[in-house]
Amino acid sequence: MNKVVSLKNVTKSFQNKKAVNDVSFSIKKGEVVAILGPNGAGKTTTISMILGLLTPTAGEIKLFNHQPREKQVREKIGVMLQEVSVMPGLKVREILELIRSYYPNPLSLQELVTLTGLTENDLKTMAEKLSGGQKRRLSFALALAGNPELIIFDEPTVGMDITSRNRFWHTVKVLAEQGKTIIFSTHYLQEADDAAERILLFKDGGIVADGTPEQIKSRISKQSVSFKVDPEASLENLYLHPEINDIFRKNDRVYIQTNNTDKVLELLFQEKIGAREIQIEGGKLEEAFKQLTSGHKEVI
Ligand SMILES: Nc1ncnc2c1ncn2[C@@H]1O[C@H](COP(=O)(O)OP(=O)(O)OP(=O)(O)O)[C@@H](O)[C@H]1O
Ligand SMILES: [Mg+2]
Repeated sequence: MNKVVSLKNVTKSFQNKKAVNDVSFSIKKGEVVAILGPNGAGKTTTISMILGLLTPTAGEIKLFNHQPREKQVREKIGVMLQEVSVMPGLKVREILELIRSYYPNPLSLQELVTLTGLTENDLKTMAEKLSGGQKRRLSFALALAGNPELIIFDEPTVGMDITSRNRFWHTVKVLAEQGKTIIFSTHYLQEADDAAERILLFKDGGIVADGTPEQIKSRISKQSVSFKVDPEASLENLYLHPEINDIFRKNDRVYIQTNNTDKVLELLFQEKIGAREIQIEGGKLEEAFKQLTSGHKEVI
């Protein structure tokens, strides 16, 4: 039984709004999973339910085959939430010692310092006097304090400088190599592409894609041609061609979805629509994300 997290038909409604709508997935021991999706897609709500901070309106969540709120489960989880709040009135070292004391097998202070990059100076500082990025480092250390088997980060690198960010992902790699199960959400898609072996892509409270970064990219990204064109140019004739699956505008570019990019290039010239700066979009997670979550609201 190596399922660490399992959600079955989980829904969470706030008043009449379904923030999470009939979501099912499970995560195995040792997986590193990124939860992606636009603002309001349901990522934090899902994470909060996994942590037992919110109760699902319907459906079932199991962690290590137990209810999320059971003590034996909580001891195995480390978490870094989207909103960082630190205990005021205590020095960083004191907070770390306090939280360590709650766990049966905590990591040593030295290990926490090494893993998170907290400095001697940070340890002596009152928590409320830390900078935003230093607070994140503290909250990272608190997440790891109990030597958890499952670690959950909600947008962990927001506000981190490039050095802290690199160190953070290096540590995540080390933890993954130790066999920890790691779930994180991020809006930095490159982080997901680099660090995750699996991506759950959320949109409007549901999962629209679940696979490796490669699988998700290959689903759509090699099949798009984009270009600039004069606003008054008519694109209607393009719709007559069966090779063109969809046309939509994003910012100042037109995107064409197709299974045959060569044919689309040929058509662009044949139809003389004046396409400029033509690009074939290939292999970018960002493109996959845009297309899978766009809802095609900007269809011409
Ligand atoms: N406590 C709440 N009461 C009412 N609505 C809520 C509550 N928490 C979340 N929502 C709504 O549920 C939806 C999903 O919110 P959630 O915080 O899960 O999104 P998210 O994917 O984490 O977004 P972000 O990328 O902005 O962090 C949103 O429409 C949000 O307004
Ligand atoms: Mg969120």
